[in-house]
Amino acid sequence: MVSDQLSTLSVEGLTVRADAVELVRDVSFEIAPGERVGLIGESGSGKSLTALSLMGLLPEGVTASGQATLDGRDLVGVPERRLKRLRGRELSMVFQEPMTALNPLMRIGAQVAEVMTLHGRSRQEARERALGLLGRVRLPEPADIARAYPHQLSGGQRQRVMLAIALANEPGLLICDEPTTALDVTVQKQMLDLIAEIAPALLFITHDLAVVASVCERVLVMYGGRVVESGSIREVFTRPRHRYTEGLLAASKLTPRGTRLPTIKGSVPGAGHFPDGCVFRNRCPHATSKCEKAPALTGDGHAHACWHPAD
Ligand SMILES: Nc1ncnc2c1ncn2[C@@H]1O[C@H](COP(=O)(O)OP(=O)(O)OP(=O)(O)O)[C@@H](O)[C@H]1O
Ligand SMILES: [Mg+2]
Repeated sequence: MVSDQLSTLSVEGLTVRADAVELVRDVSFEIAPGERVGLIGESGSGKSLTALSLMGLLPEGVTASGQATLDGRDLVGVPERRLKRLRGRELSMVFQEPMTALNPLMRIGAQVAEVMTLHGRSRQEARERALGLLGRVRLPEPADIARAYPHQLSGGQRQRVMLAIALANEPGLLICDEPTTALDVTVQKQMLDLIAEIAPALLFITHDLAVVASVCERVLVMYGGRVVESGSIREVFTRPRHRYTEGLLAASKLTPRGTRLPTIKGSVPGAGHFPDGCVFRNRCPHATSKCEKAPALTGDGHAHACWHPAD
């Protein structure tokens, strides 16, 4: 389904804090209409918090500042009632575990229809469109699926339902946070193909570098709450500049015998325990005293924030 809405997401200086701790710092990026952008990085790098701050769904006690706009409309620091109108309509999100997002006591068809009646469609129209949507996410026998309850579906089918719900009001931007991690490999592949095909514009979060390469055109690499590198998949994956990206790619490549190449030394510090200056410097084999000062993300197209980039 190609949405008739063409939206541009623009994020500028997004910072997310819990108490005094900065969990995401000064993140800036754009997603053009129809563009598919991946967000990668190890666990704890701030990927989910970045996405949740765009949706206005940050957990209690966590706040966002900076600017994020979708077609010029503010997403950060606006009242909840305005966000409710945007959510599910202008931008939607699909999470990892669909079982927790679906109501176990409500039939699938009614749940898909509900997101449309909430945004002003008549019940009759919503019911009809729900069947069409279930078909579009390639669920066989949409009428049977519509009558089923969530527990009667497989994990892969439930995730397709979540995608149908996310796309029900034809949002301009879809955000997916590890949408296929819980699925087995063959089902995962089908789901990824489907997302790549029907997302209007996409912010796709994953740990899996192969997945991001198959779905996206462009990628943002996050570490320690910052974007450390960004560019086209081709540039970043074939010629990583930031030493973190370089390590991430080396660690993900399997040798012919299936043993892993050396991984990045040390582990990701907990929130609030990243070093000052370059957040990666305590794990970086190339760090010098220069790295005590924070490098800015520089470069057009292919940008990196590293004082000693790879060639
Ligand atoms: N409610 C919260 N209060 C305080 N700190 C939090 C909260 N939620 C997340 N954090 C911290 O913020 C950091 C970034 O979390 P986030 O969930 O965005 O990481 P992530 O990149 O999505 O990781 P993963 O790949 O494991 O999903 C982590 O160190 C996490 O512990
Ligand atoms: Mg996450």
